[in-house]
Amino acid sequence: MPRQLFVTTALPYANGHFHIGHIMEYIQADIWVRFQRMQGNQVHFVGADDAHGAPIMIAAEKAGKTPQQFVADIAAGRKPYLDGFHISFDHWSSTDSPENHELAREVYLALKAAGLITVRPIEQFFDPDKGMFLPDRFIKGECPKCGAKDQYGDSCEVCGAVYAPTELKNPYSALSGATPVMKTSDHYFFKLSDPRCVEFLQNWTQDGKLQSEVANKIREWFTKEENGEGGLGDWDISRDAPYFGIEIPDAPGKYFYVWLDAPIGYLASLKSYFASGGPKATYGESRSFDEFMADPAVEQVHFIGKDITYFHTLFWPAMLQFSGRKLPTQVNVHGFMTVNNGEKMSKSRGTGLDPLKYLSLGMNAEWLRYYIAAKLNSRVEDVDFNKDDFVARVNSDLVGKYINIASRAAGFLSKRFQGRLTQHLAADGKALLATLQAGLPTVTTLFEERELGKVLREIMLLADRVNEYVDANKPWELAKQEGQDARLHDVCTVCIEAFRILTIYLKPVLPALAGQVEAFLNVTPMSLAKSQELLGVHTIGEYKHLMQRVDPKMLEALFEAPAPVVEAPKPGGGQGTASMPPEGGLALGRPGGEDIAPTITIDDFTKIDLRIAKIVNAEHVEGSTKLLRLTLDVGEGRTRNVFSGIKEAYKPEDLIGKHTVMVANLAPRKMKFGVSEGMVLAASHADEKGTPGIYVLEPVAGAQPGMRVR
Ligand code: MSP
Ligand code: ZN
Repeated sequence: MPRQLFVTTALPYANGHFHIGHIMEYIQADIWVRFQRMQGNQVHFVGADDAHGAPIMIAAEKAGKTPQQFVADIAAGRKPYLDGFHISFDHWSSTDSPENHELAREVYLALKAAGLITVRPIEQFFDPDKGMFLPDRFIKGECPKCGAKDQYGDSCEVCGAVYAPTELKNPYSALSGATPVMKTSDHYFFKLSDPRCVEFLQNWTQDGKLQSEVANKIREWFTKEENGEGGLGDWDISRDAPYFGIEIPDAPGKYFYVWLDAPIGYLASLKSYFASGGPKATYGESRSFDEFMADPAVEQVHFIGKDITYFHTLFWPAMLQFSGRKLPTQVNVHGFMTVNNGEKMSKSRGTGLDPLKYLSLGMNAEWLRYYIAAKLNSRVEDVDFNKDDFVARVNSDLVGKYINIASRAAGFLSKRFQGRLTQHLAADGKALLATLQAGLPTVTTLFEERELGKVLREIMLLADRVNEYVDANKPWELAKQEGQDARLHDVCTVCIEAFRILTIYLKPVLPALAGQVEAFLNVTPMSLAKSQELLGVHTIGEYKHLMQRVDPKMLEALFEAPAPVVEAPKPGGGQGTASMPPEGGLALGRPGGEDIAPTITIDDFTKIDLRIAKIVNAEHVEGSTKLLRLTLDVGEGRTRNVFSGIKEAYKPEDLIGKHTVMVANLAPRKMKFGVSEGMVLAASHADEKGTPGIYVLEPVAGAQPGMRVR
């Protein structure tokens, strides 16, 4: 019977794009998932955006968007990362989905019915200007210990002191600047201190399923009251309106705290995957989501980072247990990714290792998958990305030891033997292949246990054996010698058979490369079990170069600091105020993904007549996937018809009545759908043209149709 696995990664906050920490988590989980699929196990691998909470609500407000629009825009940017690094989620949803609203209410009502919900008043800082309670992060003031100004409500960045927001001197709201006042409000609590919960969690966390360092840490939490958060105190699960979240049933104006509905988002994403018919299409699954989850054989596996262990090993299992649901089978906790010797990601250097920049420099995603895997183990250890180490591991191990096996043998096979493998293998080759095949149980165990560094070392040791065989037999010399055809054929066949077995073992880590190898070898997708067979009578395809070495210059470019603003030297005035170029020479940035266009004169600019236009109507254009038809009023006593390629980013009804800016003196253009009499201005990143990352310009309120923009 194949195993049935429901696998998740932590749901990323939808307040920013993925960073290298997210990608590392996805790579770890994806390797494990692909390994399971290659064994014939059934896997449903799902993710979702964590949409709720005060920080997202506030960020959306700052961006002038609804929280829904804000998180939708973030979600729209996820794909290039996931595709780019070959992360094979089956489904991606959002914690703001209808499924999650429904499931969160169900879980809550079950906890309530079990007598585990209680209500009590708490006192908290309230922003009288904004009319809302302030999360700790949005209260600032002077550190009670050292007096440093502008410190956050929970800790001081200057002296490191940790305190409660009420201890700050001269507190102010980071949102409005107003002095917060103390206000009382009823909060809902999950009674984790209930003896049933304590007993359950003591057993569940200490019965050996968790990593030992995680279980040990939890034991401390049971006994210690750290910062008022530790120990098993009751858990405050409500927040007052205004809040972007899920309303608590029968509690007007109260919302679930984001961490209540976030993990339920795992279930909601799987439920929406079932609703989409995915499990049926992939595995012929005929059961409903509820039936599937009721099957005790189904394993629920979470991959998370160490910072959110508390939520996943205490709150989450307790929520599931007392709402009568399946419990996690595994909670796999990983350490943090740091970059270049744990060096803090400085503000001027930006994000350290930007995953999209990595891809846009033409760096191979599988170098990073291989490198991260090589550094991971099953424990909660941090992983450092180190430039030199990266170059060494990719170039000497991955390319030097593994890829080279194929490139050394394939040429002779196609040139001399029409790509046909031979059946006549000498004893040394047979023994070598048997050794490689015998590696399967170890490889399997290590993948299963997430000992990725060890499994890659094991596979590279096998690759060493193959290289020793190649060096001992020197096919390039056999090729020059008379009467050595049969031996050359034998040696090259052994190399290709060996390369195939190594590729199978590496496939969870290098899925795209394995795909190329399958095409080159002329074979169907390889499962792990296929490593125990040989190709035998077989003709391989043409070898095409499989993988480049890393050019160390790429890493320099990857970590190059973003360019500082360099002012043009004043005419006649020496250096002026120009700032110094960064180390290593002047590297101008490409704001918005493209270079600033060549300089123009003011006369060039005034040729363009920009006017404020009112969008009096907007509608879809039948037969066009890109265009909206806009009817614009520019104060001319008539309206203009303009087609604009913004359909993916806006609903027509959201534009009607808004003001924008148009080019009013552009020559009319006849299009398939009619004449376009001008152009509306919109902003987009160079890499995101044609995607929903398009922002139509809107003047500050008060501008009237027809006013010139100059
Ligand atoms: N939204 C919560 C998780 C809710 S799960 C029901 C959250 N989001 S997060 O975006 O901050 O983090 C998502 C995942 O990325 C977490 O597992 C977190 O540990 C991981 N990482 C964030 N920074 C990281 C590194 N620098 N390195 C490795 N993983 C890290 O927490
Ligand atoms: Zn301080």
